[in-house]
Amino acid sequence: MKQFLSVHDVDDIDELVKKALVYKADPYKEKSLGAGKRLGCLFLNPSMRTRLSIQIAAQNLGMEAIVFNVGAEGWTLEFEDGVVMNGTTVEHVKDAAPVLGNYFDILAIRTFPSLQDRDEDYSEFFIKQFVKYAGIPIVSLESATLHPLQSLTDIITIQEILNSHPLGVGRNPKVVLTWAPHVKALPQCVANSFAQWMTAWGNTDFVITHPEGFELEEQFTRGAEIIYEQDKVLQNADFVYVKNWSSYNDYGKTLMGADEWMLTNKKLEQANNAKIMHCLPVRRNIEISDEILDGANSIITQQASNRVWGAQAVLSQILNG
Ligand code: CP
Repeated sequence: MKQFLSVHDVDDIDELVKKALVYKADPYKEKSLGAGKRLGCLFLNPSMRTRLSIQIAAQNLGMEAIVFNVGAEGWTLEFEDGVVMNGTTVEHVKDAAPVLGNYFDILAIRTFPSLQDRDEDYSEFFIKQFVKYAGIPIVSLESATLHPLQSLTDIITIQEILNSHPLGVGRNPKVVLTWAPHVKALPQCVANSFAQWMTAWGNTDFVITHPEGFELEEQFTRGAEIIYEQDKVLQNADFVYVKNWSSYNDYGKTLMGADEWMLTNKKLEQANNAKIMHCLPVRRNIEISDEILDGANSIITQQASNRVWGAQAVLSQILNG
């Protein structure tokens, strides 16, 4: 693997998932693979799970991980080429990225969408500038439109559950991605990425449900069924992934007062004893009710814990690549 920006950088999803589960069973199996190598972790916005899991993953492989909160601690970066830097930006990515490329062997970066300028966000300009100028493999820790480490982990978790509780022969699991309410506009990254990975994986019956007007970008949902009636979609679901996202069409706008989309146990009565997923952080009793989050069918902690093994599998493939 040369870089990890989306599912398109993965040759074989099943192989990567299998590798992650091998690491889960034996975290230090390849504890010297990354010896003498350094991972730089750049954060342009906050994180808990991604930040900690990537460091643990690196350490399990014998790699040193160094975190730099660029957004809070670094010089303000300029990304536009050819600009006269007489404003608030202090350093151009064209100057900073090659330095980082010399300090590190792999650079992992979390950027963010503006949710103001759709074309700019969907061009993935910020992370691509690092790809262009760093000269070393780049790993996305979430970009403007995608969160591939999260999606890989989501599939690892689904596969892990299926390994321990197999469905009937020849039956694909029904996986639902359902929009949920939120108090503020959130990026489309997790939903885009989950749809992209699920359709690429192809081992499930994948259905997306959301209010009209909250369609995701078609390039990510091609191959998925999209149904607006949440109740109908939840019928016979085996896995329900809950996530808010802001509108792609009416870019960055959110929907207030859509409380009826919050997932509750009542809504899950028609599901197939469904396992409930969320990438975290979650707004309790806004996106999902307490009864679900604290209930037996939530696999959210397992999902978040698996972030380590997904990250370890990716770093390992890049180190081997
Ligand atoms: N799911 C996720 O990416 O969590 P963090 O924002 O805490 O990294």
